[in-house]
Amino acid sequence: MEEQIAQLTGEAQAAIQAADSLEALDGVRVKYLGKKGELTGILRGMGKLSAEERPKVGKIVNEARAALEEQIAAKNEALKGAALANRLASEKIDVTLPGRRVPLGHLHPLTLTLNRIKEIFLDMGFSVEEGPEIEKDYYNFEALNLPKDHPARDMQDSFYITEDILMRTQTSPVQARTMQSHEPNSPIRMIAPGRVYRRDDYDASHSPMFTQVEGLVIDKGISLADLKGTLELFLQQIFNDKVQVRLRPSFFPFTEPSTEVDVSCVMCHGHGCSVCKGTGWLEILGAGMVHPHVLEMSGYDPNVVSGFAFGLGVERIAMLSYGVSDLRLFYDNDMRFLRQF
Ligand code: FA5
Ligand code: MG
Repeated sequence: MEEQIAQLTGEAQAAIQAADSLEALDGVRVKYLGKKGELTGILRGMGKLSAEERPKVGKIVNEARAALEEQIAAKNEALKGAALANRLASEKIDVTLPGRRVPLGHLHPLTLTLNRIKEIFLDMGFSVEEGPEIEKDYYNFEALNLPKDHPARDMQDSFYITEDILMRTQTSPVQARTMQSHEPNSPIRMIAPGRVYRRDDYDASHSPMFTQVEGLVIDKGISLADLKGTLELFLQQIFNDKVQVRLRPSFFPFTEPSTEVDVSCVMCHGHGCSVCKGTGWLEILGAGMVHPHVLEMSGYDPNVVSGFAFGLGVERIAMLSYGVSDLRLFYDNDMRFLRQF
């Protein structure tokens, strides 16, 4: 009996030493010390022993058991320590490695141009107004002296949502909205940037959706000289004096007199190319003195105040300032193009 116990203990010790994981160690524990374990089996069989032998054997078994439990506990600690060390080694972060770069984007050339335009006008004391892209026919046309059936509406055919609501064809509706939000005859000096929509060609200098910046200045004694001076100052700043500027008589129902402003074509320097359609000039804005009837319709008195307004095309200005020969490049989302700005 004692030999059997010694042999079992030896086997168990060897198994404990050999266990290479917590699971394997637990297997050893169950095998020898569990309810149905081998050492436990000996304790169970002690009923058969004589009264003198029983306490002797019982003592040996209990001692062996205590010794094995101690060894298992020690091995358990050792395995846990090794597992932790392993995890620490495998999950180690090398803070000296170079970081992964997050690719940073940048602003679209049209946004850059718009920001520059805003900056110049803010420096001249203008405020920035906003109006809706889905606009009432009243603001887009009627309040600008273009009653229903006015022939000039044809040039700005658009996308109608209902009879009375359309995608705005110009930023000019913000003129009436701004006047109506002010005390009658109070001074205004604002720009209103935003997208506009027209049934228009998609070619080197046109898009059915494009960006305009409206300008409106109203005060006592505003004249055509103020219009010309303001626009010339703006054009000099945005183009760094690199272009020639030409004012051409024109017609808009909401201004009188009216003018369109052309800039010499940066692509061909006035010789004529596909961008300027062979003329050497590129039209970038329309402007004029606010029509007295337009002032009146929005509560301003043309006998007390006067004003000028303009509407410029942001894509055209971006083309000229960056030397881009085709407006469609701004909308193609080709990274080879966009990365250059
Ligand atoms: C107007 O839209 C007037 N509202 C401008 C105005 C405002 C006049 C205030 C008087 C007072 P026009 O249709 O010409 O005018 O457009 C103004 C500018 O927008 C043009 O000079 C041009 O630079 C640009 N533009 C016009 N149509 C397109 C288009 N399809 N694609 C890109 N740019 C365009
Ligand atoms: Mg025009």
